[in-house]
Amino acid sequence: DASVAVILPAAGSGQRFGDQSNKLFAPLAGRPLWTHAAETLLRRDEVSCLWLAVSPGDREQLEEQAAMLSRPDKIHFVNGGAERSDSVAAALDAVAQAAEASIQWVAVHDAARPLLRAEDVSSVLACAAHTRAAILATPVTGTLKRGARDQSACQTLDRRGIWVAQTPQVFSLDLLRQAYASHRGRPATDDAELVERTGHPVALVAGAADNLKITYPEDLAVAEALLQSRTH
Ligand code: CTP
Ligand code: MG
Repeated sequence: DASVAVILPAAGSGQRFGDQSNKLFAPLAGRPLWTHAAETLLRRDEVSCLWLAVSPGDREQLEEQAAMLSRPDKIHFVNGGAERSDSVAAALDAVAQAAEASIQWVAVHDAARPLLRAEDVSSVLACAAHTRAAILATPVTGTLKRGARDQSACQTLDRRGIWVAQTPQVFSLDLLRQAYASHRGRPATDDAELVERTGHPVALVAGAADNLKITYPEDLAVAEALLQSRTH
């Protein structure tokens, strides 16, 4: 039952990370950052293919690195776009055109989230199988303030019921295509937002809080320490 297509948006430029090359190439535990989650997803029997949305300039290097993973036969490349949602849209078109009849589900996962746990993948896939739309998320832990123009705290927000969205975000192929078809061009910060706009509910699945996205250089040191603590 290889019914899941994975989309790995990897076509960003890592502005906030601020390295010469894409942050996705930065070494984490001795191998390129992006390969960690890719490997976790490739190893699953439900995953029939993994589409990397890439920048043309990164493609050759990514292809070389992909060839060293456990299931390079499952990996495909497509050129990404200017915004993350453009990159996902391009990969989604490619998945649909490849027309593997077995594919029922699409799991979109940031290439920049290397610490993804296999058990969380299981949870979000299982939930999506019932709801057609499910994302990993964690309840907000901090105290939330609304800042005024002068940056003074003008309101303390009630954090009950507030979640931080993560990835993977898993949808039925039909539902995600419908969401992208009706909202193409309008900016969205994640894929779930587009599905929410169709009126279809998106289930929140509580995942590990350490499924962090590498955004700033400091995040890499944190990720390295978290990976070490898992194996020792
Ligand atoms: N991404 C993408 N296409 C884009 C922009 C982002 O595929 N046009 C991908 C990134 O490669 C990353 C994921 O979406 O894996 C999450 O984006 P983010 O963390 O913001 O990465 P960057 O956009 O590369 O970083 P920055 O915003 O700091 O430039
Ligand atoms: Mg970005």
